[in-house]
Amino acid sequence: MKESNIYSCAIIELKEEYLFGSSMLGVESNKDIPFQVKRCYYLYDVPNNKKRGAHAHKNLIQLMIAVSGSFNVCLDDGENRKNFFLNSPLKGLLIVPGIWRDLKSFSSGAICLVLASELYDETDYIRNYDEFLQYRKMNAY
Ligand code: TYD
Repeated sequence: MKESNIYSCAIIELKEEYLFGSSMLGVESNKDIPFQVKRCYYLYDVPNNKKRGAHAHKNLIQLMIAVSGSFNVCLDDGENRKNFFLNSPLKGLLIVPGIWRDLKSFSSGAICLVLASELYDETDYIRNYDEFLQYRKMNAY
């Protein structure tokens, strides 16, 4: 995996593999994306005025896709921030470990699909921003 900073987080263009009057898209571990998927989950019915995220992960790698609708993702590596507006099922945002993320401005009907490299583990979360900054300083990223 690449360095942990917002410049290592990038949009991966996903390929529609089958088009027959409708569309479908498959994502394969270590082929279309640079990690093995162990878990997937999705966020939906998020009111437009609600925020999600507000945490970082120590080891988890994620690919985030707006499979329907749109939302905004702000990534922060403790020094720099970058905004991504996700509004296409053909684009996945790769988020490397050690990055703080804030999600907001969910459109009506938005679905945020997340492919994740690890099983759910609460000890992998950093949910306090000051702790996150400390963690970044103490770990050589
Ligand atoms: P969290 O990852 O903080 O959600 P978001 O980034 O959307 O704000 O998770 C919210 C809650 O759901 C938290 O209590 C943990 C739980 N959860 C699971 O049990 N399994 C999972 O795979 C995920 C992602 C969350």
